[in-house]
Amino acid sequence: MRRRCGGLALASLLALAGCVTTPSPPTPLPDRPSLAQAYAGRLRLGVAVEPEQLQGAQAALLLQQFNSLVAENAMKPSRLQPAEGRFRFERADAIADFARQHGLALRGHTLLWHQRTPDWFWRAPDGGLAERPLVLRRLQKHIDTVVGRYRDVVQDWDVVNEVIDASQPDCLRDNLWKQVVGPDYVAQAFRFARAADPAARLWINEFSTTVPAKRDCLARVLHGLLAQDVPVQGVGHQMHLNLDTPTAPEVEASLALFAGLGLRNQVTELDMSFYRPGEATLTAPPPALRTRQAERYAALMAVFLRHPELDSVTWWGLHDGQSHLTRWPLAWRADEPLLFDRALQPKPAWSALLQAAPGP
Ligand code: G3I
Repeated sequence: MRRRCGGLALASLLALAGCVTTPSPPTPLPDRPSLAQAYAGRLRLGVAVEPEQLQGAQAALLLQQFNSLVAENAMKPSRLQPAEGRFRFERADAIADFARQHGLALRGHTLLWHQRTPDWFWRAPDGGLAERPLVLRRLQKHIDTVVGRYRDVVQDWDVVNEVIDASQPDCLRDNLWKQVVGPDYVAQAFRFARAADPAARLWINEFSTTVPAKRDCLARVLHGLLAQDVPVQGVGHQMHLNLDTPTAPEVEASLALFAGLGLRNQVTELDMSFYRPGEATLTAPPPALRTRQAERYAALMAVFLRHPELDSVTWWGLHDGQSHLTRWPLAWRADEPLLFDRALQPKPAWSALLQAAPGP
């Protein structure tokens, strides 16, 4: 990516200074079948990206293989509005411009997440804890500004992210949103988003939606929202999976439950770790794990394809070297959760998904 900005050289300084970004053209790739084309007309296939990836070989790969994007971090509230009223759109704009330029779909992630709500949201002018009316005004302004800015290019917004907690009597996570605003903050966020864009599809995005207690809690919350005519269109299933869980029948049961409520489903953050939570290895994983991963991706795709209300599958990263799983909890953990390896070469999972594609 080439940047032009008054002679400054360091990328971080340039980003801070909000300089103009001119992406260098995608690098030509070898001819190979396109996953997105194989699923065209049935599913949109996407990946999460940071703006630095939208150039060179990575841009070429994503344009060849995918037709949808989501910002891995650039559209989170703490990134877009780090200080009250001081919006920083450069990184999100770079992704939105790339999507516009290449005719890609763009998912918006996310308007409200307890983990990435900047602290100023909670601060009253006297330095104490802000009260409900002020926090709601701030939320409305944030949603109005962000959704309004990307209305032409974002079709789907993750309005709220990770609000469910099955251990709570009301199924809603115990966080400052609930404590300061009250449990109706979820409904308020959806209403603000609908007012800012009458056409966007609005999603509640959640992890572990296949675990029965969590799944049923999510259904209970959605039931309540639908009964109050809150404009929620569907469930975004993050689907951070491993080689064993959840099983295909568990995924099927979850999708069927929400479809039965008249809602849509999307897969929003798909990856498949070689390890269970907490496990890790620093040595190269045995090749057999790649085969197992390929079989499992294909089996789960068959489940997704049986659901006509599910129209989009997004991987949480373009290639294994970029995955959040290789950065956390160990920066060099040898995980391989995605469809392309660190050298951007297709893995067995990619071939298996090509074969699993619906016929023309
Ligand atoms: O950009 C800074 C960099 O300048 C700095 O040198 C570095 C040092 O740690 O940090 C970098 O920021 C990190 C950022 O990822 C980019 O790598 C943040 O510390 C780190 O917190 C951030 O983590 C992201 C995480 O959400 C929290 O926002 C992950 O990339 C992102 O993959 C992850 O995504 C979440 C979804 O939004 C919601 N569902 C779960 C999913 C995975 O955790």
